[in-house]
Amino acid sequence: MSPDLLIRNVTLPDGRTGIDIAVERGRIAAVGPKLEAEAARVIDGAGFLATPPFVDSHFHMDSTLSLGLPRMNQSGTLLEGIALWGELKPHLTVEAIKARALDCCRQAVARGTLAIRSHVDICDDRLLAVEALLEVRAEMKPYLDLQLVAFPQDGYLRYARSAENLARALDMGVDVVGGIPHFERTMADGAASVKALCEIAAARGLLVDMHCDESDDPLSRHVESLAYETTRLGLQGRVTGSHLTSMHSMDNYYVSKLIGLMREAELQVVANPLINITLQGRHDTYPKRRGMTRVKELMAAGLNVAFGHDCVMDPWYPLGSHDMLEVAHMGLHVGQMTGVAEMRAAFQAVTSHGAKALQLDGYGLEPGCKADLVILQARDPIEALRLKPARLFVIRGGTVIAETPRVEAALHLGRAGETIDFTRPSPLAGGAAGP
Ligand code: FE2
Repeated sequence: MSPDLLIRNVTLPDGRTGIDIAVERGRIAAVGPKLEAEAARVIDGAGFLATPPFVDSHFHMDSTLSLGLPRMNQSGTLLEGIALWGELKPHLTVEAIKARALDCCRQAVARGTLAIRSHVDICDDRLLAVEALLEVRAEMKPYLDLQLVAFPQDGYLRYARSAENLARALDMGVDVVGGIPHFERTMADGAASVKALCEIAAARGLLVDMHCDESDDPLSRHVESLAYETTRLGLQGRVTGSHLTSMHSMDNYYVSKLIGLMREAELQVVANPLINITLQGRHDTYPKRRGMTRVKELMAAGLNVAFGHDCVMDPWYPLGSHDMLEVAHMGLHVGQMTGVAEMRAAFQAVTSHGAKALQLDGYGLEPGCKADLVILQARDPIEALRLKPARLFVIRGGTVIAETPRVEAALHLGRAGETIDFTRPSPLAGGAAGP
């Protein structure tokens, strides 16, 4: 075997240690201990974690890095964010959207995120954002998979030209059908929008991803409509419900029925922990609801749950640097997912679960998969969540596309040459000392 790239001595997310990975012609050729091979390039993994790349299942690439334009969101609410975005829209240009999106994509790549599903607002009759993001998708293709969702931000039925614009966006090459039923004028209009949009996806053979019930309204019923239309149209597994925050506030008995409908529809679920914890519960005094959907319970019911970043420095969220480990860290805390299996599931929510929701081809670290992977300065997924460590190597198709030097602090506490990098032997590997 003469691979193009040989990675020596990494730990895999499933716990195997001392593993080598050989890459040939952009694909993983072999995975195992002490592979006998010589390669043009060899990377010493030094026992650190190699993972398939991070996947951001829900993002807004058209508004990213626009923070402060034309003003800040003073209330911090979802509705002021939508109003603010409406103020900015008439002033957008293809060039400005592209420049900001490319900047964000570069940050994502440096963080080891190589697939992003971005919603793109089609409630601008010029479709400038669609044009810009299609160009960004093409330019970034060698480095990052950008999937685009035609998103009627101002409502599919509520905004007069949504239907026409959505069809135009799909004709231009946008990948996925979006929606926002809770923003329609009535519950009935919301249900009608779900029906119409799922029918469009079925007719065109496309996936669906709707912002669905992003509210604290315990009586909102659009998840139910989405599951129903998915099953009715035979779209099982092809439809994503994003946010689903109303489920946080729903009656437990009703949720026990709803989860059954979601399972029947094989609905993909995307929670956005950073945004849900900051935007939901805004009408509460105390106790104040967290708003994130029932991640643990949905996972336990066998549904595929992924996490999205949603926003970085835009009208809805002033923070962020596109780090999916920050997202998973927040999701784990908000969802109280501190059991060992739960922490591993939080890591999967920003890796393999996202890949499943986006139906990514060739994702993983098995032979035959695309040679896309990240080596982190951490020993296992749980340490990665704890430290949000340096992405030492980001590899796409067998080529290193980003590198960060190993991070360690030099201490000056009286012992010469003392350094600290915060990693610890994993208590799960049996390497920890007794109490
Ligand atoms: Fe969103």
